[in-house]
Amino acid sequence: MSGVNEIRSAFLDYFKKNGHEVVPSSPLVPRNDPTLMFTNAGMVQFKNVFTGLEQRPYSRAVTAQKCVRAGGKHNDLDNVGYTARHHTFFEMLGNFSFGDYFKERAIELAWNLITKEFGLAADRLLVTVYHTDEDAASYWKKIAGLPDERIIRIATSDNFWAMGDTGPCGPCSEIFYDHGEGIAGGPPGSPDEDGDRFIEIWNLVFMQFEQITREERIDLPRPSIDTGMGLERIAAVLQGVHDNYDIDLFKTLIHASEEATGVRAEGKNRASHRVIADHLRASSFLIADGVLPSNEGRGYVLRRIMRRAMRHAQLLGASEPLMWRLVPALVREMGQAYPELVRGEALITETLKLEETRFRKTLARGLGLLAEATEELDQGGRLDGETAFKLYDTYGFPLDLTQDALRQRGISVDLEGFDAAMARQKAEARASWAGSGEAATETVWFSVKDKTGATEFLGYDTEQAEGIVAALVKEGAVVDEAGEGDIVSVIVNQTPFYGESGGQVGDTGSMTGEGFELEITDTQKKGDGLFVHAARVIKGKVRVGAAVEMKVDHGRRTRIRSNHSATHLVHEALREVLGTHVAQKGSLVAPDRLRFDFSHPKPMTAEELEAVERMANEIILQNAPVTTRLMAVDDAIAEGAMALFGEKYGDEVRVVSMGRALHGDKAGKAYSVELCGGTHVSSTGDIGLVRLLGDGAVAAGVRRIEALTGDAARRHLDEQDRRLKAVSAALKVSPADALGRVEALLDERRKLERDLADARKKLALGGGGPAGAGAETETVAGVGFMGKSVSGVAPKDLKPLADEGKKTLGSGVVVFIGEADGKASVVVGVTEGLTGRFSAVDLVRVASAALGGQGGGGRPDMAQAGGPDASKAGEAIAAVKAAMEAKG
Ligand code: ALA
Repeated sequence: MSGVNEIRSAFLDYFKKNGHEVVPSSPLVPRNDPTLMFTNAGMVQFKNVFTGLEQRPYSRAVTAQKCVRAGGKHNDLDNVGYTARHHTFFEMLGNFSFGDYFKERAIELAWNLITKEFGLAADRLLVTVYHTDEDAASYWKKIAGLPDERIIRIATSDNFWAMGDTGPCGPCSEIFYDHGEGIAGGPPGSPDEDGDRFIEIWNLVFMQFEQITREERIDLPRPSIDTGMGLERIAAVLQGVHDNYDIDLFKTLIHASEEATGVRAEGKNRASHRVIADHLRASSFLIADGVLPSNEGRGYVLRRIMRRAMRHAQLLGASEPLMWRLVPALVREMGQAYPELVRGEALITETLKLEETRFRKTLARGLGLLAEATEELDQGGRLDGETAFKLYDTYGFPLDLTQDALRQRGISVDLEGFDAAMARQKAEARASWAGSGEAATETVWFSVKDKTGATEFLGYDTEQAEGIVAALVKEGAVVDEAGEGDIVSVIVNQTPFYGESGGQVGDTGSMTGEGFELEITDTQKKGDGLFVHAARVIKGKVRVGAAVEMKVDHGRRTRIRSNHSATHLVHEALREVLGTHVAQKGSLVAPDRLRFDFSHPKPMTAEELEAVERMANEIILQNAPVTTRLMAVDDAIAEGAMALFGEKYGDEVRVVSMGRALHGDKAGKAYSVELCGGTHVSSTGDIGLVRLLGDGAVAAGVRRIEALTGDAARRHLDEQDRRLKAVSAALKVSPADALGRVEALLDERRKLERDLADARKKLALGGGGPAGAGAETETVAGVGFMGKSVSGVAPKDLKPLADEGKKTLGSGVVVFIGEADGKASVVVGVTEGLTGRFSAVDLVRVASAALGGQGGGGRPDMAQAGGPDASKAGEAIAAVKAAMEAKG
């Protein structure tokens, strides 16, 4: 018996042998289609290839595609668990021809696979064709030899397949398997076709048209083929079971769920185990593809799926969170075919555990309320909308969870009442917000948000995506369109552009659509969940409702990623080097540099800076993966994650970890762990290099570091290198000898300065002879006196000069006035024995006064002062003499 994994491989191998390129499954979040919530068929990733917009190097392809049908056009959520074949997540096997083969070959390939390779009995098979499709009918007859009664013509949309409201489409032909008389049901097109006897296993779509709008349909450039076979269905047929949930893969998952709960999948518990197994797959694959539970858009569909499963876990009596314990079984079964499950295992496990832990707190109370509110209701009864809304709003019960809980009792929910309660709450929230000051200027964003809902951010996983323009705002007012040259704010239903937050600047790039081109100069977050793109219309006219192709400036975003991740590494390195008092006080993550403000009381030493830079670069060289997880804030902080300054956190936060710590308590664990909503490199090696530009002060106790990464760091080092080389060239030595040479030059210079000062002193004391020789001395008030004005002698050299003078005189008074830049300094010396008659302090004051200054100070034998007017040196010396005479 073939297991699911073998059937998948057999399918891919068969088409590979027949000239098809094996293309990996695309992610569940479509990158190329803004109208789709989730990838819901194998052809989604080829949509633009069918329409001729995109070229690929092959014209035949085969895939096993992950699909989710929950939310959007194809939505199976409500039935899952209660039927044999509904899933939220399933795999679609498909072969594709892009203008290569068409109906005949497609039918031949399909028929040979199922009858020859898979060995299905031809008499168990029948097909449908679109009622006008004579070609298809005749090929089936020719190739498969099917009798007319087993080629059934269907006139309804069942045999005309469309991806969504728009996109490629065409008539189709479906292959059915007859599970035999023992099971009730009629062939397709018959009144009891909904029975389980005849099961569609493969849909061959003859892609011929593109639906442009609801009304307009055009021909595709070339007729093409798109097929889809549900892997779970064909596995059931090949494994001789009638129910998808009885195939090997589901048996294993259900067994894991039985083990974990200790409850067998029988009777009323069967549906719960099925829901759990199905929802485990959908949740895990969505999380692996970057969807995280939230209250908007895709995240909310995921939350609905998770919580629906969690209620069933509760029904089975699980007293602890259950879903996360089943992840290993899923990874064992499907990890080989889908390695993203293996890579994402930690994120999947933690996200499930967190959601279930939190939801369990309100689940039991909500179910209590629900039981009370429906106590009196019987089969056919209706729960009032108010209660359903209260369950939604206060207890976190998605509407479909409430509906699911009441399903078995045949009770429905008053949906109008629910919607009315929701609308009333929104109006109230708006009224209370409108009163607050800050909001007044931002009114427009809140009313836009009310209309458009929050923007879905895709930018963690992609830098390109398509979207639909949801609103335009020009000069503060909502407009329907904007023309060439206009500056306009653009809101799109989803975006890869990062809105400025957490220190990281907003993304820039381009948006293009039919006939128009916008330059995006910035992206900001506004009005609680809107991403507002600042745009300039370069060409044409943009209108609300237009489809846009959005492209983030890749080079700039790459540099921002590097700088953001480097900021985390520098932060951690600072804590290691300076101590854990280092806390982030602000940061700027820009494309050209990063800036990080942190608490630290004093300037960093060169050694500290070097150590921080070295540590950060050590982690970069590890080239360790950067991982992101979603956690409850409290748990994240309890685990040592550093919270960012000034950031508002929701209940759940992204936790970004990078590197392996090499030393200290954390050795072997993640090096840096921070709560952060920013975008990061995927491995630390992507940063390349980090270079600190030194630290400075911002405020008392707050230091600032600036740094460069990657190419900017390299260019900075280059520049430094060039400068060193220029210095060495000027010194005529090698760079290695430059420092020694500079030190020698500085020594030499100091020596020369000393020699010069000596020479000047000698000159001042009277010429080039031995000290004192020829000094001009005179007698004043009966004692020796020497008075001189000297230029080019620094104030600090005046005192040694005065000492020399005193020695020369033996006994007497010396006055030296030095001049530099027009200002004067004066020193008076009185030899020992004369200080009783003349005080140097008194005399220097007299001199200083003559020089236009005041004061001065020192001791009776030596005092110094200054004055602004050096031209009065002669007067100053005369004044000192006069003062000495006056003293007698
Ligand atoms: N795209 C087709 C389907 O999903 C094959 O059924």
